[in-house]
Formats: sequence, structure tokens, C-alpha cells
Amino acid sequence: MKNNYISNSLSSVCFIGLILGAGSAMGAAEGEVLAQKNGCIACHAMDKKLVGPSFQEISKKYKGDSVAQATLIAKVKAGGTGVWGKIPMPPQSPKVSEADIKTMVDWTLGLS
Ligand code: HEC
Repeated sequence: MKNNYISNSLSSVCFIGLILGAGSAMGAAEGEVLAQKNGCIACHAMDKKLVGPSFQEISKKYKGDSVAQATLIAKVKAGGTGVWGKIPMPPQSPKVSEADIKTMVDWTLGLS
């Protein structure tokens, strides 16, 4: 009886792990789809500089930076210049929703 209980809880733990794993994989794909849908890829490529820095370069620059998520969400919303060069990024808000921007920033930061 006691053994049954233990093995049942173990399989629930595995099940939850599976759901979480699948969820974050979907989040990753969603970030890329949103970057295409919202026109970010006109200026940003995965692995080479276009008008703006590549998503991989951005991810490397902010690796381990605990305030990067908030900084980058604000930057994408309002636009700005001076971090990567002189070319400005135009404001992406309100054209792109804050929820979409957050998903794309999380996806970008997770690339490296
Ligand atoms: C018209 C071109 C253009 C478009 C469209 C554009 N960006 Fe940018 N982006 C830039 C440029 C240029 C920079 C570099 C700005 C700088 O040097 O501070 C940049 C920088 C960034 C950065 C890094 C900011 C920093 O301070 O390090 C992120 C993240 C980013 N863009 C995400 C996005 C997302 C997400 C979208 C789509 C919603 C988008 N960009 C659309 C041109 C663009």
C-alpha cells in the first residue's frame, strides 16, 4: 500500500515535468514566430547583423544580466539608439503588444 503511494506520486512528478518541458519548447518557437509576424526580422536576423544586431548577439551581450529582461522590454517598446551603434530602433509599441514583446525578449535572452 505504502509502496503504491510512492510510485504514484513519482509518476505525477514526471508527468508535470513533461508538461513544463513541452511548454517551454513551445515558448521558444513562439518567440521566433512572433519576430516574423511583427516585422522584427526586417532589421534583425538570427545570426548576422542587419540594420540591428542579431538575436544571438543580443542574447550573448546580456547573458547573466538580471535586469536585462526589463531593460530590453522597455527598449523595444520605446525604441532607442546608442547601445549597438548610431542607427535607432523605432518604437515598436503600441504596434506590437507588450505581451508579444515580453515573449520575444524572453526567447532572445534564452538563445545563448
Ligand atoms: C527598423 C529596424 C528595426 C526594427 C523593425 C526592429 N528593430 Fe530592434 N533594433 C534595431 C536597431 C538599429 C537596434 C540597435 C539600437 C541601439 O544601438 O541602441 C535594435 C536593438 C534591439 C534590441 C537590443 C536593445 C539593446 O538596448 O541592446 C532588441 C532586444 C530588439 N532590437 C528587439 C526587436 C524586436 C523584438 C523587434 C520587433 C518587435 C524589433 N527589434 C524591431 C532595429 C530594429
